[in-house]
Amino acid sequence: MLSDKMQDALNGQLNAELYSSYLYLSMNAYFKSVNLDGFANWMYYQVQEELAHSMKLYDFINQRGGKVKLLQIEAPSTAWSSPLAVFEATLEHEQKVTALINELVELALAEHDHATSIFLQWFVSEQVEEEESVSGVLQQLKLMGEAKGGLFMIDRELAKRSAGAGSGTAE
Ligand SMILES: [Fe+2]
Ligand SMILES: [Fe+2]
Repeated sequence: MLSDKMQDALNGQLNAELYSSYLYLSMNAYFKSVNLDGFANWMYYQVQEELAHSMKLYDFINQRGGKVKLLQIEAPSTAWSSPLAVFEATLEHEQKVTALINELVELALAEHDHATSIFLQWFVSEQVEEEESVSGVLQQLKLMGEAKGGLFMIDRELAKRSAGAGSGTAE
């Protein structure tokens, strides 16, 4: 059984993952609106990943005999000044999520809830990948600077991201 405290924390993380999908869906819409379809494509698959994270938490809470509580999902921003600004916000968001996961792990350890601790290890590794892939795109955008041709090239690169094919950044 999950403790009430652990259950609340996992429900909080379920909300954070749903918010992540909502944020990236908003970023997808932004990229669509400025005709950067490759960037939009990258965000589209990011949305699917965050929904998958949400469902992992949802299933785990149920599996442990806990009670799922669906909380209100905050409205994300809808406009950004540039693709660079979007990816800066994305990295900042992923770093925030990493901190939340680390707090959950700390709580699971403090409660001697080993099942939850093991379950959370997947998220710990996933956050390393998330920060790495977002940083990769951010570095490309920074290297490109003001060059318009560079944006087009990155857009073509990000168009290659597909389900289960990694994050589509340059190898
Ligand atoms: Fe996530
Ligand atoms: Fe994420």
